[in-house]
Amino acid sequence: QGRPFVYADARLKCDGVDVAELAEQFGTPLYVYSANQIAERAGLFQTAFAGVSHTVCYAVKANSSLAILKMLAAQGCGFDIVSGGELARVLAAGGRDVASRVVFSGVGKTAAEMDEALDAEILQFNVESEPELELLAARAAAKGKRARIALRVNPDVSAETHPYISTGLSAHKFGIGIKLARAVYTRAAAMPSIETTGVSVHIGSQIRQVEPFAEALAKTLALVAELRSDGHQIRYVDAGGGLGIEYADKDFDAAEQVAHYAAALKSALGSMDVHLLLEPGRFLVGQAGALITRVLYRKQNGDKKFVIVDAGMNDLIRPALYQAHHEIVPVVTREGSLDEEADIVGPVCESGDFFARARTLPVSEDGDLLAVLDAGAYGLSLSSNYNTRLRPAEVLVESTGARLVRRRETYEELFAPEMP
Ligand code: LLP
Repeated sequence: QGRPFVYADARLKCDGVDVAELAEQFGTPLYVYSANQIAERAGLFQTAFAGVSHTVCYAVKANSSLAILKMLAAQGCGFDIVSGGELARVLAAGGRDVASRVVFSGVGKTAAEMDEALDAEILQFNVESEPELELLAARAAAKGKRARIALRVNPDVSAETHPYISTGLSAHKFGIGIKLARAVYTRAAAMPSIETTGVSVHIGSQIRQVEPFAEALAKTLALVAELRSDGHQIRYVDAGGGLGIEYADKDFDAAEQVAHYAAALKSALGSMDVHLLLEPGRFLVGQAGALITRVLYRKQNGDKKFVIVDAGMNDLIRPALYQAHHEIVPVVTREGSLDEEADIVGPVCESGDFFARARTLPVSEDGDLLAVLDAGAYGLSLSSNYNTRLRPAEVLVESTGARLVRRRETYEELFAPEMP
């Protein structure tokens, strides 16, 4: 339930598969994911909410690997998408039928993206502003369709998380102020090409306390009651994503965490008859993945020691962008090696290119392999080709063995769209 990466005979294994052998076979930097843990986490969510009508709509942005989307679609999950590109991925991985379990979030949907989602007949657009509502109404009318919508309300609830990933306060760009929502629903209901079917809320990411989720849901449900009394047929309440994981402590009980979360949401829900939509991202995939990297060099500047590895901030930007902590462990432990304090840094030409600062690790030697843990969420999906670096390959460890699910890019592919 914690991490699928454990040692056997001093060698790191992912569900029994030797990580060093994967690095030899597929090269580094390399993302390795446990299919088993992703399925288990999705199952935990589904079980925790058994008893309430619900759909788990995995937030594709956390990890948009087609192989992972395909697995989750087969497990009955729906998807929370934020772009036409994510819609295309979900349809490619899960087939056209999954569209009935797709919700489309985001503050900046374009007309073209709306058209794609209308053609696919997705479940619901989570609309974030009045101008967006007007454009969607026009696009749907032009196709002779009715778009099912939820307004994403901003509940003005504060969630204790990093400011860059907190979204539920009025100061943030997300959603429509909850006090204004009722009037906007009245406007929307008057649009023949719009069907007001839901209300959505999302307060941020990596939230470890469950109270803010319950508070936001309670406020949302109070609005649902008002909307129903105004005559809107509200069926769906989208409670968003954001349930956090433990990045530092090994003994994280995921089942307990999700049970706690489900209990808080269920108690806010009471006996209200709605279909709940849930948008977990990180919780399903974060701890299932590790970024495997090789030590290139060790150096010392003054008193400071550096371990330079072959993965960089372009491959995993979380430490640079959010000062995020990721555990880093040797892939093969060496007997009798002493701990030493060093910065673990990448080859990118930026001082922000680090995975850890002043971290105490067993002394590594050139050529050693390190695993940056809990890198399954917002790792490759948030990667770039900065410094014209090829992004990592990806391996999925399944019950039948390890499988390359994304090969490494080539230089030619990086240049392909250019016209010098
Ligand atoms: N639903 C909506 C509308 C969202 O904006 C997000 C995440 C999610 C669901 C999924 O949240 P999760 O369950 O994964 O926390 N790059 C940052 C996280 C950004 C989250 C953006 N929105 C990081 O690496 O921590």
